[in-house]
Parts: sequence; structure tokens; C-alpha cells
Amino acid sequence: MNSELISKDNLDLAIKFLDEGQLVAFPTETVYGLGADATNVEAVKKVYQAKGRPSDNPLISHVSSPEMVWNYADPSYKEQATKLMKKFWPAPLTIILPIQKDALSKNVTGGLSTAAFRMPDNQATLDLIAKFKKPLVGPSANTSGKPSPTTPQHVLHDLQGKIAGVIDDGPCKIGVESTVIDLSVDIPTILRPGFITYGDLVEVLGQVSSDHHKVSQDEVPKAPGMKYKHYAPNAQVIIIDDVADFDEAYAEFSKKGTTGLLATDSVLKNFSLADELKYSLGKNLATSLKELFSGLRYFDNMEAVKFILAQGYSGDGIAGAYMNRLNKSAGQVHYKKGEK
Ligand code: TXA
Ligand code: MG
Repeated sequence: MNSELISKDNLDLAIKFLDEGQLVAFPTETVYGLGADATNVEAVKKVYQAKGRPSDNPLISHVSSPEMVWNYADPSYKEQATKLMKKFWPAPLTIILPIQKDALSKNVTGGLSTAAFRMPDNQATLDLIAKFKKPLVGPSANTSGKPSPTTPQHVLHDLQGKIAGVIDDGPCKIGVESTVIDLSVDIPTILRPGFITYGDLVEVLGQVSSDHHKVSQDEVPKAPGMKYKHYAPNAQVIIIDDVADFDEAYAEFSKKGTTGLLATDSVLKNFSLADELKYSLGKNLATSLKELFSGLRYFDNMEAVKFILAQGYSGDGIAGAYMNRLNKSAGQVHYKKGEK
């Protein structure tokens, strides 16, 4: 199969593929999603196969309107969910809700009595879903374990030959996956941090828990995706929490092997290093969020690179979303001054 780059003006072609039960990757404001008809069990099966995704990790159903959710979700949660939908959607916010009995297949929900819903902020994809009239499942369109794709080229790098095509809408605006909030529990709980922050959610809901569930391999986790290795490039990522340590860390690691730098322009400009060993995270935290996965993928394509020194951020809000992804890609390895 040759996976096609589909123009966003040619949604009819994407719909034809989806009708046939094929896979079409779609753009969103966060990352590209691997789309399939959420009501077609065989099509959803192909999503797991193409990604190499463990089958107990449930999928988000992407909708083009809040109304579409209530064909599947338990209406007794409507009041609370509507508060979030009204305030944020379309947005990088995924809402977990109990579903009506047998409303979605087991391979969408992972056998749970709840399901994840999101209305993404991307016009082409909203038009696609509205025309298709059914939700699309959409995990990030990467090979399982690799950084999520933020361009159509990333999608084709991982999935060429495994999907019918990808709708091209250029680079994603935000760059990390949506915030996931669980409304099926007594106190709404953030299962994955993202661009919509704890503070944003508290403002609407009052009480919110942000305890991230830490799970071991053999427990049944609350957000099943959280137990798997994520975003891991081939090189070892080392987080530099204090930009003042970059010099010393570079001197140390470059002795052991080729070392790349993933940092903002103000850090990179101090290094007289081959340009190809520097990947710019732009000028601030927002651009860093947008460029993080792209940068990890950039170094993944350079076999010689053994270490990636990546800029860390402190603080709440979107810094939390950034550090959540960076910590996973680094296996929690942070640079400690003076420690060899
Ligand atoms: O921004 C995003 O959310 C992107 C774009 C494409 O929309 N999608 C995405 O999907 O990141 P995925 O499959 O990579 O991540 C979905 C997360 C997983 O950690 C999964 O375990 C969790 O949501 N999840 C899905 N259904 C759930 C449920 N019923 N209960 C708890 N967690 C759930
Ligand atoms: Mg993913």
C-alpha cells in the first residue's frame, strides 16, 4: 500500500478510505491522530496493528460536536461535561465519561465502562468528522513508543505503507497531546497533563485532582496508556534543569559520544557546535512544547548521536505538560552537576 498525502481540500477521498474501513491520519492542534471509523470493529483493529499498540490501551473517540458524544456517553453526566465542553471545546481536552451499555466496541474502550471523547480544534478534521457523521478513533499516529507526530512527514516516517493516507495540514500548533480529565469519578481527575491546565479546569469545575496514577506493569491502570514506555528516542536523553549547566554537561557528555542539544535559541547561541547537532526549541516555553517531539525525532534520524541534552522547565501550567513528556523520553534522567 502506498500511503497518500491527502490535501485538506480533498476530504471526500479521506471519507472514501474511512468508509472502506481503512486508516487515515488526521491533523489536530495537538498531534496527528490515526483515524478509523470508531463504529467499525475491523477498522479499529487495524489501528492497533499499524501502531503496534498493546490491545488493552483504549482509544479516544474524536467528535465534531458535543451532541455526538451523547449518542454514546451516559447522559446523567451531561451537566458536568457540558460545562467543560462549553468553556473549552474545540480544544486539547479529552473527557472520560461512563458510556451507555455496549455503545462502543471493546477494542475502543479496552473493555472499560468508560470512554474518552475529544472535539479537536482543527477545521479540516472537524469538517471531516461532521461529513462522516461518526466519531473517529485517533491515537497519536506514531509507532507505539515513539514521539507523537506533529507533522504529516512524521506520520509517513512511521506508518508509510500501513495506512491509506494522511491529511496534510502542516505542523500542529500545540505539539503535545491533549489533557485527559476523568469525569467518571467523584472528584474529576487529570490523568494526563496538557495545554489545558489544572488551573483552567479548577476554574470551571471547582475541585479537581491532579494526582497522576503511578502504575506498575501488572496493575490495571486508570489511564491504561500510562504504563507504557513513551516518546523514547534511540539516544539517551538527559534533562538539563538549569540552563547554566549546559556548558559543563556538554563538555562531559561529548567526551563519551556524539551529543546533540535540544534547547532554546538563547542557549544554543553560546555553543560553537555544528548546526546539525543543535535543534532549536524556539524562544520560549510555548515554542518548546511545539518543537519537543519534532526535536526528539530529528535526533532519532541521526544514528551517530548517543546523547541528547534537553532543556528542562520548572513551574506549573504548561511547564507540567512539557516536563511530563520530557521525563518519559529521558526515563527521568536529569543532569546533576559534578556527578559523573
Ligand atoms: O491530543 C490527543 O489526545 C491525541 C490527538 C490525536 O487527539 N490523541 C492521543 O491519543 O494522544 P492516545 O491514544 O495516544 O492517548 C489517549 C490516552 C491514553 O493514555 C489512553 O490510555 C487514555 O487516553 N484513555 C483512553 N480511554 C480511556 C478511558 N476510558 N479511561 C482512562 N484513560 C483512557
Ligand atoms: Mg500516543
